[in-house]
Amino acid sequence: MTVITSIDDLKRLYKRRTPKMFYDYAESGSWTEQTFRENSSDFADIRLRQKVAVNMEGRTTASEMLGQPVAMPVALAPVGLTGMQRADGEIKAARAAETFGVPFTLSTMSICSIEDVAAHTVKPFWFQLYVMRDTEFLEGLIERAKRANCSALVITLDLQILGQRHRDLKNGLSAPPKMTPANILNLATKVQWGMEMLQTKRRTFGNIVGHAKNVSDVSSLSSWTAEQFDPKLDWEKIQRIRDLWGGKIILKGVLDEEDAKRAADFGADGIIVSNHGGRQLDGALSSIRRLPPILRAVGDRTEVYMDGGVRSGQDVLKAVALGAKGVFIGRAFVYGLGAMGEQGVKTALDVIHRELDVSMALCGERDVKNLGRHNLYVPANFEGEWA
Ligand code: GLV
Repeated sequence: MTVITSIDDLKRLYKRRTPKMFYDYAESGSWTEQTFRENSSDFADIRLRQKVAVNMEGRTTASEMLGQPVAMPVALAPVGLTGMQRADGEIKAARAAETFGVPFTLSTMSICSIEDVAAHTVKPFWFQLYVMRDTEFLEGLIERAKRANCSALVITLDLQILGQRHRDLKNGLSAPPKMTPANILNLATKVQWGMEMLQTKRRTFGNIVGHAKNVSDVSSLSSWTAEQFDPKLDWEKIQRIRDLWGGKIILKGVLDEEDAKRAADFGADGIIVSNHGGRQLDGALSSIRRLPPILRAVGDRTEVYMDGGVRSGQDVLKAVALGAKGVFIGRAFVYGLGAMGEQGVKTALDVIHRELDVSMALCGERDVKNLGRHNLYVPANFEGEWA
């Protein structure tokens, strides 16, 4: 039995057990991948302030996100094609999140449908919405999320057009994978993945197939986005969606102070400082660098979360100490899922929790809510001086 001590351990197992096409999909950034890399490496520029001789008994990482109690200030990010990383992946991840006590966010581009995830979980989850041209389909999705009792709508604002990820093009990414000689050769080495996939019926985009009309190729994320995502998305449309939804809204993909102020004026319940995991605008600054100026811009008018580059509890500590109300993890839970299914997602959450808890103690803190700027060493030029 392999001893798992870090998210990196899960990543190694994930890589071994998952078809190349889906590993590459998760592990890519757009174009040169500068933003993808810096999301993680910029975290490393911040250091933690060690404190000693402080009572560290009775610690808690419990907090709230969007008024909902969470076991730690971490949510599972929406990740497309999760059910290709492992059979029934969204259901497995949602169940692990539920057991652990953190929110799960289902992607529009998931393999398991909204209804399917709702049928296999007890607590409400969050639904991530891509804004489509087809109004009927869009309204149908919102209605379905309502019927499934989703407790927040996470509207993604930074992917109306797809940033190019070279490997997806070279691999011919699709769900299910096309049976080309290269894919057959690679799939033949992923025995457990294949056996589980053969036992499930969930092998294509569950929220779309059977619901959207006039679609030429539903198996390809890139052709679907090009045909269906609405390039005319603006604040008026976001308002229309809010009227239809009537519940809590999180706006995802905010990286600029002016956009953040606009989102707060709009009355968003939360915003996610995000560059889509470095998968969209290559050359954008990392999320962790953009977090402090955005927090200054909106104050406490809306809850500010971040995602991008979070691979450890120390990363969570840094983002929360800078002022984020919570962070979203994407790749970190996907590694766990691909490595060991539902148990692997649980392990990823356990690893991050342990790291957060112990690091907090060594910083002299007993309550995650007391974390602050005083726990960090942030280089003077961390945000950078950009003209
Ligand atoms: C979709 O959300 C993607 O980044 O591939």
